[in-house]
Parts: sequence; C-alpha cells; structure tokens
Amino acid sequence: MRRFYLSLVTIAIAGLVAATANTTFAAGKLTLYCSPQIEWCQLMVKEFEKSTGIKVAMTRKSSGETFAQIKAERRNPKGDVWWGGTGDPHLQAAEEGLTQEYKSPRLPELQDWARRQAEQSGFKTVGIYAGALGVGYNSELAAKHKVPAPKCWADLTKPAYKGHVQMANPNSSGTAYTTLATIVQVFGEEKGFEFMKGLHKNINQYTKSGSAPIKASARGETTIGIVFQHDAVTQAVKGFPIKIVSPCEGTGYEIGSVSIIKGGRNPESAKKWVDFALDPKIQTMAAQAKAYQVPSNSKATPPPQAPDLSQIKLIDYNFKKYGSSAERRRLLKKWDDDVSTLPR
Ligand code: F6P
Repeated sequence: MRRFYLSLVTIAIAGLVAATANTTFAAGKLTLYCSPQIEWCQLMVKEFEKSTGIKVAMTRKSSGETFAQIKAERRNPKGDVWWGGTGDPHLQAAEEGLTQEYKSPRLPELQDWARRQAEQSGFKTVGIYAGALGVGYNSELAAKHKVPAPKCWADLTKPAYKGHVQMANPNSSGTAYTTLATIVQVFGEEKGFEFMKGLHKNINQYTKSGSAPIKASARGETTIGIVFQHDAVTQAVKGFPIKIVSPCEGTGYEIGSVSIIKGGRNPESAKKWVDFALDPKIQTMAAQAKAYQVPSNSKATPPPQAPDLSQIKLIDYNFKKYGSSAERRRLLKKWDDDVSTLPR
C-alpha cells in the first residue's frame, strides 16, 4: 500500500514538472533585431515580456547593418523579428525574400502611409512610425565658432561649415541612406552627387549609427548633425542647446517598419511581437523612452514633442524606387566610389 502511495506521489510530481516545462515552452522565446534608439528597444522588450511571458533576446544595430546581417544569415536565420529602422532596407529585405508575409489584425487601424508600406511589400513589412529628416545644431557651439545657423541643404556645402558637420555612413545607417536618397530626389542625381561631394569636404566624421551625430552635437563635439528631427528633439528635451532645422528645399522622411524574418525559429512569437508593436497603447508608450516619432496606429497618441509632419515641407519620397534592391545597391556603390574616397 505504502509503495502504491509513493508511486502516486511520484506520478503527481512528474506531472507537475511536465506541466511547468510545458508552460515555459508555450510562453516561448523571441530573438529581436532592434534598430531604433536602445532606450525604446529596452522598454519594448520589458513590456512584451510582461504581457506575453515570452523571453526576448535583443540586439540593437543600425538599419543597414541589420539588413546586411539578415542577408548574411539567410541560410540559417538566427533572428525572428526586425523591429524599427528606416523602411527602405525593410522593403529591400521583402523584395529579396528575406522576410515573411503577415497580415496583422491591427492593419485597418493604421495610418495610410503605414498600410501602404505593407501593401507595397506584399505584407512582408509594415509601418510602425514616421519621422522627418533634418538638420540639428548646437546653438552655443555655433555662436562660439561664429557659424551661421543653416537654413537650407545648400548651405551645408559652404566653406563656413568646414569640419562642423557630422552624418552617418549610408551603408550602415538608414538615416544616412534616407539623406542620400533625399538629396538625389531634391536636386536630381547629378547635382545631388555634386552636393554630396561638397558636403563631404565639410564632414568631420561619418558615424555608424544615424542618431550619433546629434548626440555628439549635444556633447559639444560637432556643431551640426544631419539626423531625423525626432532624434534632435530627444537631445533638446534632455536640456542640450540643440536647435532643429527643416531644410528650405524640402526634406525626406522615413516610415520606420517591422518585419518577420523568414525561416526564423519562433514564427508565432514573431507574429505576437508585430501585433504588440502595432497596438496603440504600446505605441503611445514611446515617449517614456524619449522617442518622438509619429506613431502609425491612428488610435495612438503622438507625443506632444513629436515634430508636426504637416508643418514640414516634405518631399514626395519615392519609397518604391529608393527601397528597391537595385536602386539602394546602386546608390550606395556610387556614394562609396565617387564620394567617400575623396580627400577632405
Ligand atoms: O534613433 C531613432 C531612429 O532615428 C529611428 O527613427 C530610425 O528608424 C533609426 O533611428 C535609424 O537608425 P540608423 O540610422 O542608425 O539606421
């Protein structure tokens, strides 16, 4: 009899262990490649883990770098989802078959520009936020060096700005690729590349990450940074003397996007991440991380500090063309060959 009870207890314990293991398994895992600011990536991970119980392994890399990593891993994908970063390389990833179609039930709630991004890619990516490109400068440093406040893109090639301008490298950074594509769209290809060569003479450093130049400007290491305006707002909100300029000729913008990586090990967790990232409550939380992009869900509340896109002279950025694989590759190669190699 005693032996019988002992076996019953053993079976019960074994059942409990199995149930616990099952729960852990059911909750699941997710490997996230994250391209916006690290503070927002961390907040998203914390909230997602809290609401789903899914354990997230996250790394932050810039948009171009993440695209290159997903492409390099295509035969043995290690990531499940790529959240944030500029839309062009997300579109390129979709075209190259690196990402997976998914139609979130949240799609009907999204702004037109975010849904268009999804439609254009065959639902392999979708817009999560938007933000305008611009120029940020440290007004104290500008006064100290007697550098006039820039008003237009064309100003940035003037000798007065020599050594005062910083931008990222368009190969690694989505911000800098958006800059290159914007300049080509504003001035035309020939004049646009002349502009990039003139600008190159004034550049003190090409950084890896797109927001690095305005962080450097806030620290007093460069007078001017070519960045997304919301990244300049973040530094101004932190109390640094950063001023923001919308170039007079008009400027480009990004549709920050999310994509599920094809062949990832946790596709169900990846879908949950996309639904979560499109949730208006979650998008509204971005301001807690001092992230001031315009959210894609029309029910989300944009942060009051977010640049008002309706007040900015935006160009009709051609995402289809500049997010296409051939065009992005061609422009980057041309910049590498004709601009980056020139002496400064
Ligand atoms: O810092 C936030 C942000 O500007 C996003 O809005 C954008 O998608 C991303 O960074 C681009 O980063 P990078 O230029 O480093 O690819």
